Amino acid sequence: MLILGLESSCDETAAAIVSDDRRIFAHRLAGQEAAHRPYGGVVPEIAARAHVEMLGPLVAATLDEAGMTLAQVDAIAATAGPGLIGGVMVGLVTGKALAHAAGKPLIAVNHLEGHALSPRLVDPDLGFPYLLLLVSGGHCQLLLVAGVGRYRRLATTIDDAVGEAFDKTAKILGLGFPGGPAVERAAAAGDAMRVPLPRPLLGSDEPHFSFAGLKSAVVRAHDSGRWTVGDIAASFQAAAIDCLVDRTDRALRRIDPPAALVLAGGVAANRAVRLAFERLAAAQAMRFVAPPVWLCTDNAAMIGWAGVERFAAGLTDPLDVAARPRWPLDPSAEAVRGAGVKA
Ligand code: KG4
Ligand code: ZN
Repeated sequence: MLILGLESSCDETAAAIVSDDRRIFAHRLAGQEAAHRPYGGVVPEIAARAHVEMLGPLVAATLDEAGMTLAQVDAIAATAGPGLIGGVMVGLVTGKALAHAAGKPLIAVNHLEGHALSPRLVDPDLGFPYLLLLVSGGHCQLLLVAGVGRYRRLATTIDDAVGEAFDKTAKILGLGFPGGPAVERAAAAGDAMRVPLPRPLLGSDEPHFSFAGLKSAVVRAHDSGRWTVGDIAASFQAAAIDCLVDRTDRALRRIDPPAALVLAGGVAANRAVRLAFERLAAAQAMRFVAPPVWLCTDNAAMIGWAGVERFAAGLTDPLDVAARPRWPLDPSAEAVRGAGVKA
């Protein structure tokens, strides 16, 4: 089974061809960092226009690289939300047009399901259920992944997503855009013990995450002029990781722990985050799984793979399926104040 995956929910335009036997025949990605950099963040209108310009040629280049024609793929999987709606519509409409022209089924993929299932693309031994910490620019959630389309949200953020906190910290410290990798690099040259920063909700009985107070403390630490950028970055990263680990540990104490602890989403690209969760998994006698770094940040291979999993389960969508700016993986989970809306 061959699936063409398309991704356009934020600032990466991407296409990939993946198979049910976990081969990635081609994957292409066109970032838009230079276009957004002057604004210090992703500008939705600029993103949507860039997706329009890039997606068509990118699909052609992806088919070319795989040595395939559209006639050879079994279905087209496109991100249908959540995310910046202009970009999502570009990818979904392109997917619909290709599906219609080639007479192939369409699979409307939830971007978060792409992240959530991506570890299974690279790890054939990762079975359901698993505990997933999904950490990206718009989300910070603990999910019990019971199967394709079967997610129970155990916790989410009550204010900022952790990736957003990394991005804002980078902005405050003048490290530029995109922020996560810049903070990680700056942190490597700093001392994480030096700047006293809060760990919101640490040890709390409440299940959720919070990062807004940490961000404000970073502003104060920077304004005080007492600390170096490296020390603030390192101390911020350590505080954020303490929060992630503490909240995950709390969740694990309240469930029958599954066999594997899994990280996914852009922040899972952070080496210190990965190391901390590897330790937590070891302490809980759980397997630790995180996709390779390139598969953590937005890409189309994960959308193609979610397409593989959904197609194998007989799940396809009509050509009039709607793009969704918001699309929770667990619709039964209670809304909490301020949870992020970005993909
Ligand atoms: O999954 P993703 O590529 O896009 C969304 O769906 O949001 O995640 C992007 C987020 C950004 O906030 C970015 O700063 C963060 O992931 N990120 C990182 C690292 N690489 C990307 N955060 C910390 N350390 C990194 N190395
Ligand atoms: Zn993402």
